[in-house]
Amino acid sequence: MMYPLEQLCEQALREISDARDEKSLDDVRVKYLGRSGSISAWGEQMKTLSKEKRPAVGKLLNETRNVVTAAIEQRAEQLRSEKASEALATIDISLPGTPAERGSLHPLTQMLDRAIAIFRRMGFALADGPDIETEWHCFDALNTPPDHPARNEQDTFYLPSGHLLRTHTSTVQIRAMQAAPPPIRVIAPGAAYRRDEIDATHSAQFHQIEGLYVDENVTVADLKGALEFFMRELFGPGTEVQFRPHYFPFTEPSLEVYVKSKALKGGEQWIEVAGSGMVHPAVFEEINKARGDDAYDPNKWTGYAFGLGMDRLAMILFDLPDIRLFAQNDLRFLKQFA
Ligand code: DAH
Repeated sequence: MMYPLEQLCEQALREISDARDEKSLDDVRVKYLGRSGSISAWGEQMKTLSKEKRPAVGKLLNETRNVVTAAIEQRAEQLRSEKASEALATIDISLPGTPAERGSLHPLTQMLDRAIAIFRRMGFALADGPDIETEWHCFDALNTPPDHPARNEQDTFYLPSGHLLRTHTSTVQIRAMQAAPPPIRVIAPGAAYRRDEIDATHSAQFHQIEGLYVDENVTVADLKGALEFFMRELFGPGTEVQFRPHYFPFTEPSLEVYVKSKALKGGEQWIEVAGSGMVHPAVFEEINKARGDDAYDPNKWTGYAFGLGMDRLAMILFDLPDIRLFAQNDLRFLKQFA
């Protein structure tokens, strides 16, 4: 036969396992363990028992309380995890996830990377210089004194300190020669700035790759060979290259570089893509003065230099109508190059 306390315990356990939610489970807890709950009431009754019976009943009462308390905790935990898995059941785990947005390289960066890769195969090292330059690096050292008309054509932004935004990457020729004696073979990609009326083909900021090769017996033939190879690697083997006489203060002779290729505008047009020439002896002399030595003796060393317009090259390579597209940050444009 069962003692009444045992019956009470059985009943409590049944009600606990029947509780369907937190609220009804809490009702059961109050009913048995609450201050006026049935188990607590047994505690009150203990006082009426004889001294002999008290320990045995007290022990049973404690056990009952512990068993019921543990059962309530266990059921509560069960209800919590049932609730969590019900919530999970409403999620369709077979649905594809939200894809992360991936960026891509800007078309000008892609163009630069391709050009740099070709020059590296030809043995050119990368050189670098600041966008904010001294007048001397940008003009004087490049045989362009203050009263020279070329300074008008390359008007730029001057800072109160007397520094300026470089009008071309030719400044890096000067920095490279100041830093090391010949032989030297470097390219310098980077931004250049001019005070220009902005339109479809002109921007106040544009990009160039400068090239400089100084060694013994460097000739115009080396310059032509290097640039022809570069253009054919970039635009395809059928590309024609033409060199037209021109004037730059820092080269003599000076040549403008034109290309014609089936890959470009139907192959009908000659397109100007670079300035180039043989480094002017006056530039070597100025470098020697600055270095305080005779490292660039113009009787011993000769060199060629060139400056490629990267925005122009990218526009013809990707067939783009407007230089401003590069700086407008329009995703519809940029995603076409992803
Ligand atoms: N710096 C010239 C410009 O921006 C381009 C140029 C011409 C660069 C001749 C050269 C060069 O290195 O030899 O118009």
